[in-house]
Amino acid sequence: MTDPLLTLRPWTAPEVTSWGRLPMNAVDRRTGAHSLDGDWRFQLLSAPDAPVGGAWSTAAVPGVWTMQNTDDPLRSTVDLPQYLNIRMPYTEFPPLSPVDDNPTGVYEREIDVPADWTGRRIVLQVGAAESVLLVHVDGRPVGVSKDSHLAADFDLSDVVRPGGRHTLRLTVVKWSDASHIEDQDHWWHGGITRSVLLYTTDPLHLADVTVRASRDGELRVDCRVRDTGGALPEGWYVSGELDGLELTQDTGFDRANAEDERVSAFLGEARMQTRVPEVRAWTAETPELYGLTVRLHHADGGVADSSRHRVGFRDVEIVGRDLLVNGERIYIRGVNRHDFHPLTGRTVSYDDMRADLVLLKRFGFNAIRTAHYPNDPTLYDLADELGFYVVDEADIESHDHAHEIADDPRYLNAFVDRVSRMVLRDKNHPSVIIWSLGNESDYGANHDAAAGWVRRHDATRPLQYEGAAKRGWADPDLASDIACPMYAPLEDCVAHALSGEQTKPLIQCEYSHAMGNSNGTLADHWAAIEATPGLQGGFIWEFWDHGILQSVNDGRPVGRGGAGLYDNGVTAPGYRWAYGGDFGEKDHDGAFIADGVVFPDRTPKPVMFEHRELAAPVRLELFRHEGLVVANHQHFRGLQWLAGEWRLALADGRTLTAPAELPSLLPGETAVVPLPLALPEDGGEAWLTLRVTTAEDLAWAPRGTEVCAPQVLLRAAVPAEELPVPGTVEVDADGLLVHPLLTAGPVLSLWRAPTDNDELGGMALRWRTWGLDALVRKVVSVRRDGDAVTVLAEYAGTTGVVRHRQVFTPVEGGIRVDELAELPEEFDDVARVGTVFETVAGLDRLEWFGQGPWESYPDRSGGAPVGHHTLAVDELFTPYLRPQESGGRHGVRRFVLSGPDAPGLVVTPDEPRQVSVTRYRADDLAAAAHHDELVPRAGCVVHVDAAHRGLGTASCGPDTFPSYLVAPGVHRWSWTLRAL
Ligand code: GAL
Ligand code: MG
Repeated sequence: MTDPLLTLRPWTAPEVTSWGRLPMNAVDRRTGAHSLDGDWRFQLLSAPDAPVGGAWSTAAVPGVWTMQNTDDPLRSTVDLPQYLNIRMPYTEFPPLSPVDDNPTGVYEREIDVPADWTGRRIVLQVGAAESVLLVHVDGRPVGVSKDSHLAADFDLSDVVRPGGRHTLRLTVVKWSDASHIEDQDHWWHGGITRSVLLYTTDPLHLADVTVRASRDGELRVDCRVRDTGGALPEGWYVSGELDGLELTQDTGFDRANAEDERVSAFLGEARMQTRVPEVRAWTAETPELYGLTVRLHHADGGVADSSRHRVGFRDVEIVGRDLLVNGERIYIRGVNRHDFHPLTGRTVSYDDMRADLVLLKRFGFNAIRTAHYPNDPTLYDLADELGFYVVDEADIESHDHAHEIADDPRYLNAFVDRVSRMVLRDKNHPSVIIWSLGNESDYGANHDAAAGWVRRHDATRPLQYEGAAKRGWADPDLASDIACPMYAPLEDCVAHALSGEQTKPLIQCEYSHAMGNSNGTLADHWAAIEATPGLQGGFIWEFWDHGILQSVNDGRPVGRGGAGLYDNGVTAPGYRWAYGGDFGEKDHDGAFIADGVVFPDRTPKPVMFEHRELAAPVRLELFRHEGLVVANHQHFRGLQWLAGEWRLALADGRTLTAPAELPSLLPGETAVVPLPLALPEDGGEAWLTLRVTTAEDLAWAPRGTEVCAPQVLLRAAVPAEELPVPGTVEVDADGLLVHPLLTAGPVLSLWRAPTDNDELGGMALRWRTWGLDALVRKVVSVRRDGDAVTVLAEYAGTTGVVRHRQVFTPVEGGIRVDELAELPEEFDDVARVGTVFETVAGLDRLEWFGQGPWESYPDRSGGAPVGHHTLAVDELFTPYLRPQESGGRHGVRRFVLSGPDAPGLVVTPDEPRQVSVTRYRADDLAAAAHHDELVPRAGCVVHVDAAHRGLGTASCGPDTFPSYLVAPGVHRWSWTLRAL
């Protein structure tokens, strides 16, 4: 018998968004349902209409087949993960997809329907499947669903028998018309990515519940009621309970304007409303939730159905050009987050999601954009509970064919379907403050159709869509209440806010691209945002580096920085983080998939620490050298949840501490407090830090977790000249310093292993064209002048020559090196100007006075306090997925490199300098594609830079600012080297 689901080929018909699927609603049926997760029978077909008849294997549900047995060398690449950003993985034009090569997973298992479900409604829920789901029970077609990141429910009451055993088959077609609108920038997978379950209700059931709760305590609960038997039975009613407060049906509510509260015989609508006295309002800072139970009763009082909701009382509105939560102009300290996991690809557990959000909370984030599709439902529960503002985004991205699809009527249903289903599912979450129509899909009538639906259905939240801004951010289009550009230059944002033309809140949907060693100028962004009315923040791109754990157990030595799942991203011999191309894909976009603020094992990248500081709820300023201004920089709460400690770091090595009493401050208030510690007469440069920690155990942080560490300079350094003393300096025939602790250099360095920003922004190419990666050094002269030695050298690139002078002078206990480099005009944007040398083996510990402890660069140093820091050399290095410049420390005043088996060395630069100490030369890093290819050197490679180029974000978006570039012309710096 032919199967109509196959004959109709729904995977080629965008008009068909579903068949047999129940309407989406906000009644969560997961609790109490029968889980069908586990191992299912599985067959992978080459195309949806290929015959099922081969051997069954097993597959995990939920799970994507593209992540199963990824090490098997015999697997076809089409069955493995493939990473493409914009381009579709095939050339077929929408709505078509490959006919013969369309992997189709057939999942099958038996289901036993409990005998006591007789007379009840029995529903199958498939949490998510990509991209087309076909459902059969005992060979009978039951339904079709598209929309890969939302659940599909199917009523099985007529096809299964209580007490019976049935065969459930879920067929998942990988490529379809829907793939063209699911062209997001991440891995392509295929399979079932969220849980499958079976639930049952009385035929009389809650078809939907809509909760509206505002900050003044008004609560309104609207229920839609249906009966699968047909007309509703007489006498049904609803009741509710909100944390002990009884709710009764509002008998005055009568939408049908008739005696009977039913709109029709088939659809019941009922309302409950109340006003909660002294309500505790919900905000991301104060995620106060109330528990609501809604019950649907038969006439005799018996409960037919019930649902649980968590209610947050809050208002979202736009007033003028400000987005307000509970009347306050908030800042959006956001991040874009995908549902991602390095082992499962797409399937994320409760624990994973909780860990993501806890980490974000700890690092000062307060907002998430669910880029670029509705996330797992649990994420919203956690956002409500832990406190995040969510931009909920529909699963629409037609990037490769955006222009055609936005106005293609064949896709109209899909647009409205996807947006409306998201709104219907998530409308009761207080965390969701903005709806988004999707991403990178141009702008057309299909968007306006979806926008129209949202505006009618939910007037309580703003709507945004980046692509709507076709004529500028103030365009009064239907689809965006927010000006939400991506990667807009900061100066454009500021200019817009100052132009008088701004009509909408300006909140970038993506900014500060976190690929590799990146996020330069984040502090400049926040300084401007906090100083410019009209700017309210944005969402960093993105949370995850989507590296997939991959075995490379082929006998090669594996260096530090290989993949180490949940082991600090550092060591796991035999594994690495795979990115585009590592699964043998012909077409791919390489490491562009690794652009998050956390590594694939969730280890925070250094930018996270800077972000935490930029988001500091407590700010500190020096007040006329007599006291300190402490400010509460939050919107909704005092400082009582925080504790503090003062730390005074002195250049002479001392750190003094004193307990801190945080003043009692309302949001936005400041207080002047006296200096907590007497500043010692001696001790040199002095920095006072207020280390702020949580004062109590919170849902996202145990007591004592660091929240921020604002810092002020109490006393500046007095420059001290290192005076010459009699002594000897030895240089070899090449004019290179001979020193027992050095094995190479010190020589001039103008290059760094290109960061992803350097590569994609075109700087690296320029540097190679200039020959900066392979400068040829030639000694011009070596001259002795008393005890001092002057070495003149030239470093020739392909297009210019850099003249370099080093003067080595004996000073007390060591050697002072005064350097001068003169860059020709054509080298107008180099990576660095500085010194590089290499040390003997055995030095494995760095102590320094300067910014730290985490990695910092000139345009990403806002979060690294000045102090005395100590780290193992191996810990200094940040293993960005594609090896590149890393491990730098900004503002280093002095450092000591030591080890158990070798005498150490001390370097004191003339002023705070950019320093790095690693086990890799720039060449080593630049030559490697993954960390497992790197072999650490025994000695250390040390850079002391007179100038170091900012990092910027040019891999996608603006480069660093001109003030962070390295200018041509003359650079001078000096440093002293001493043996310990
Ligand atoms: C944006 C896009 C994201 C991602 C990012 C670059 O244009 O919306 O999905 O591709 O660029 O990493
Ligand atoms: Mg895209």
